[in-house]
Parts: sequence; C-alpha cells; structure tokens
Amino acid sequence: MGNFIFAGCDTVELAKKYGTPLYVISEDFIIERCREIREDFLEKYSNTMAVYASKAFLTKEMARIIKREGLGMDVVSGGELYTAMEVDFAMDKIVFHGNNKSIDEIEMAVKNGVGRIVVDNIRELDLIESIASKYQKRVGIQFRICPGVDVHTHKYIQTGQLDSKFGIPLADNTIKKAVKKALDCKYIKLLGFHFHIGSQIHENHGYSLAVRKVVSLIKELKDEYGFITRELNTGGGYAIGYKDEEDRKNLSYYTDAIMNTLEQECSKHNLHRPLVIIEPGRWIVGEAGITLYTIGAIKEIPGIRTYVSVDGGMTDNPRPSLYEAKYEAFVANKYEEKAVKKVTVAGKCCESGDILIRDLKVPQIEPGDILAVLATGAYNYSMASNYNRIPRPAVVMISKGKDRLIVRRESYEDLLRNEI
Ligand code: LLP
Repeated sequence: MGNFIFAGCDTVELAKKYGTPLYVISEDFIIERCREIREDFLEKYSNTMAVYASKAFLTKEMARIIKREGLGMDVVSGGELYTAMEVDFAMDKIVFHGNNKSIDEIEMAVKNGVGRIVVDNIRELDLIESIASKYQKRVGIQFRICPGVDVHTHKYIQTGQLDSKFGIPLADNTIKKAVKKALDCKYIKLLGFHFHIGSQIHENHGYSLAVRKVVSLIKELKDEYGFITRELNTGGGYAIGYKDEEDRKNLSYYTDAIMNTLEQECSKHNLHRPLVIIEPGRWIVGEAGITLYTIGAIKEIPGIRTYVSVDGGMTDNPRPSLYEAKYEAFVANKYEEKAVKKVTVAGKCCESGDILIRDLKVPQIEPGDILAVLATGAYNYSMASNYNRIPRPAVVMISKGKDRLIVRRESYEDLLRNEI
C-alpha cells in the first residue's frame, strides 16, 4: 500500500486507531540500545554502572522496561522519583540530580533509600546531613563538579562550561572545601564525583578532557586528605541522528574514550580506577520514537512559501522553537510517492514561532494526510505542555510489531482537574 511502516506497524493504521497527534515508541529499539550498553560497556569494563536519564522520556511503562533491562535510573525531581517508586524500581539504583532540590525532595530521597544523591552545592550538603540525621540513615553522595569544558552543541544544552548554573566549579577551591566538609559529616558518605558536560554532543574529546581534569582533582584529594574516590559519574549527552541515522555514533565511541583516558590517567598517577557511571537519556530513547500528525490547513504564499499545518506543534514538541532543532518527516500515507515540493510544517499554536520543520520535501499533499516526524522519542513527551489548552497526545508502545496504549490522550476534563 506504500504506507510508512515503523517498528513493524503501519503508521496510518495507528493514526486511525488511536487518533493524532500520537507519540509512537518502539520498545524493541529501546531494548536494542540497552543491549548495546550491556555488551559494549557493562560487560566490557568491570566496575561500571549505567543509569537511564529519565528526563528524556518517563512513564511507568518506560520505568518498567528500564528496570527489566537491568539499568539504574537518573531522576531529577520528586515526580520522577515517584514514578520510579510506583513501579518498585530498586532505590539503590537511583541517582538523584538537581541544582535546587527542595527539602521535601531530599526527604523523599533519604526516607526511601535512594542510592546516590548528586550534590550540587554546599547548602544542599547541609540539608542532606540534617535530614539524614533525622532518619538516622547514612546517605551516599557524589559532588557534581563543573569541569569548565565547552562542548559544541546548542548553548541551551551546554552544561560543563564555567558559566553554568550546575555544579561546583573546579576552577577555585570551593570543591576542596566541600569535600572537607562532607568528610566531616556523620550521615554522609562521599562516594565520588559527577560531571555532565552537555547534551547532543557529537565529539568525544570533551569527555576525555573532563576526565583528565577530574583525575587531577582525585589525585590532589588523595594527597591532601587521603580521600579515595570510589565513583566517577560521567553523565550523558551522547548524540543521536535527527536528520540522518549516520549521525548517531556507537556507544563505545564515547565510553571507550572515557574508559581509556581514565585508565591512562589513573595509572599515570598511581590511582585505583573508580567505579564508572554513565547516564544516557536521548541515546536510549530518542530514535525509538516518532510522532504522527494529521495535516489540516495548507496555505500557499506564491513565490514565498507553503505552510502546512498539523494538529499538534510546539505543545508536543517544543524543541524546534527552543533549540532550533531540525527534524526529518514523511507523509506516512504517501511514503513511496515522489517529493514534488518543499513546504514549511507549522503547528497549531497561536505563535509564529510554532514551526516544526522548514523546507520539508513532500509529495502532492492534501488535508487528511498523515505526517510522521522521526526521532521524537526524547524530550518531546517529557517536555510537552498544555499551552493554548491543548491536551497532551496519547503514547503508544510497539513491541514486536504489536501496539499497546501506555498513556491515554488527555481529555478536556483532565485539563480542568485541579481547578477550584
Ligand atoms: N545526566 C544529567 C545530569 C543530565 O542533566 C542530563 C540531561 C543527562 C544525564 C542526559 O542527557 P542526554 O544523554 O539525554 O543528552 N531538553 C534538552 C536536553 C536537556 C538535557 C538535560 N540534561 C533537549 O531537548 O535537547
């Protein structure tokens, strides 16, 4: 019939069955990524751990898949932690991030025995010590350091540079003060350090550079305080292919660089190599997802451009308007037809900036056609909003060619649920 088949399912049939806009996620793809993580990282290198950065895409079903695949999970809020708890995720495999965790969130983490809290500043250290003493629990922490490494990606998703809201800078003595203080805390067990240099990073040298910087810190701390670093958490950020699958590198492109640099630096300084943690989010789920839309209004401005509007937009995918992100798409019901023109795909929000794709090549199109936008698995559903009181789409998971609903489409009643 020439329809676009995704993960073994006819996308036009999915659109008919569940309506649009619709997020469709391939479980097989996620499982395949987890297998690559096991084979090329966890089994290749001893004393390693992989946690999924759940901010990329989190539902209870996703948490169950990650749990089944044996990975840990990185959470950054009480809400993400709550989702993990609802599926009985092992709390010792949770890594809790955030540059401004609330007292309630810290209490929730301590009470439930979260394995590692990644501490972003000294105030947080004080809060954890007092909450942990209340519960008489010893809490494992890592300090998030800001390594002062600039990577080439959109500036909104760079995080390792000195001028960042995240982490304790390496550039001055603050980190040493923080370590000294942590070592004096009765209820805190300092396990090591964490860095996350950014997201959608195509090059591995930023990771190697950050590792070198942290190892000199590790060495200084050993010499000055006799402190042995047991863990090094190297964050996530591995790039995927949005327009072209070739852009996605194998996991080992990043992890081999991290591990080789670390082994070299540790042996140079005569240090024991710490446990290494990685935290990929987008790389696991980004290309696993697509979004289906129905095409509506088509506005042709002769000599200028043709706007093709879909029934979603920046509410289900804010990435083009936030980061000028580029996407690939197909007319799902005309997948095998030849492209005859270029159009601009617009969303339905009351915003001129609500443009999903510029200059997309399409066949002859008409209202009612189905548009499939690729690689929307990460930071789409998780960043969706109700702007213009538009309900969030449903999420369908595909496994071995079979579809199942994992999140219902929001209703108008859902929009008013908390109103008084
Ligand atoms: N670890 C930490 C501490 C992080 O802050 C992040 C992402 C990750 C891991 C996972 O990064 P990934 O492997 O997914 O690149 N909304 C933006 C991305 C923000 C990323 C925030 N932190 C986007 O849509 O591009």
